[in-house]
Amino acid sequence: MNPKIILDCDPGHDDAVAILLAARECEVLAITTVSGNAPLHLTTANALLICQLAGLDIPVHAGADRPLLVPAAHAPRAHGATGLDGPPRPEVYLEAASADAVRCIIDTVRSHDDVWLVPVGPLTNIALAIRQAPDIVERIAGISLMGGAVGAGNVTPTAEFNIWADPHAAQIVFGSGARVIRMAGLNLTHQLCVGPEVITALRAEGGTVPSFMADLFDFYLAGYRERAGLEAAPMHDPCAVLAVTRPELFTFGARQVDVETEGGLTRGMTVVDERPGTDAVPNCDVAFSIDAAAALELIGDTVCSYG
Ligand code: RIB
Ligand code: CA
Repeated sequence: MNPKIILDCDPGHDDAVAILLAARECEVLAITTVSGNAPLHLTTANALLICQLAGLDIPVHAGADRPLLVPAAHAPRAHGATGLDGPPRPEVYLEAASADAVRCIIDTVRSHDDVWLVPVGPLTNIALAIRQAPDIVERIAGISLMGGAVGAGNVTPTAEFNIWADPHAAQIVFGSGARVIRMAGLNLTHQLCVGPEVITALRAEGGTVPSFMADLFDFYLAGYRERAGLEAAPMHDPCAVLAVTRPELFTFGARQVDVETEGGLTRGMTVVDERPGTDAVPNCDVAFSIDAAAALELIGDTVCSYG
């Protein structure tokens, strides 16, 4: 299956892998960028950098430079000041196709059938598109997002970064009524971790993209080692792509998922109703497990395929 998708991202080391994976697994109609791991001008430049490095002819549209209501927040500890710290930064000559990602999302969904929206950053662009053009909700094939968690968060004890960064946008997306919403939360993405052996394999492969990604992974893993004493780092965003292209690698559970927008301790928490026999109405297919070995092999082969 070669699904048509719009990849909405905030590159971001794992977003970079999601771009490379999506370009091989999908028909990527557009990449849209959002403020998240880094400010918008950097996440946009980073998306263009990855497209240029990998020779991808995919239009990149810049989107929201801030969340709907809360102040913009970034993740320099995980991704560095540029959002893609680690490797020497090449000159980026590609330019964004537009500064109106929301218009791109709306027009693309209205002109193509069965488009998947695959957001792997804060959900600001997706929420704005749904608010401006509610008709797109019934047109899309589904939303496959990286965000939230069944259990512990990362940016706070209760919230995952993408949802926490714009909880009001997330509340709109989870409440959109889309026929399919797949959620790859931290409970899932922490099952898919890249370790030093992947970096060794990429360096052995050599070539521009594998070497660049090895440098990215070196930086990304060092951060997890320093902060959490881990010897491997979760590949969050590729999970949202694989949930569309390789659903057989996952197990999902239909759940009601709501988003806390106000709580002092719980802002950005995805509240997943796990009560046995609950009368809740599911709005989301929550991913609970992944065949990590198969997924890692696919990710490694994909990155190496760019030579
Ligand atoms: O919490 C993980 C998410 O936050 C990932 O999408 C990562 O890229 C960051 O945006
Ligand atoms: Ca991301």
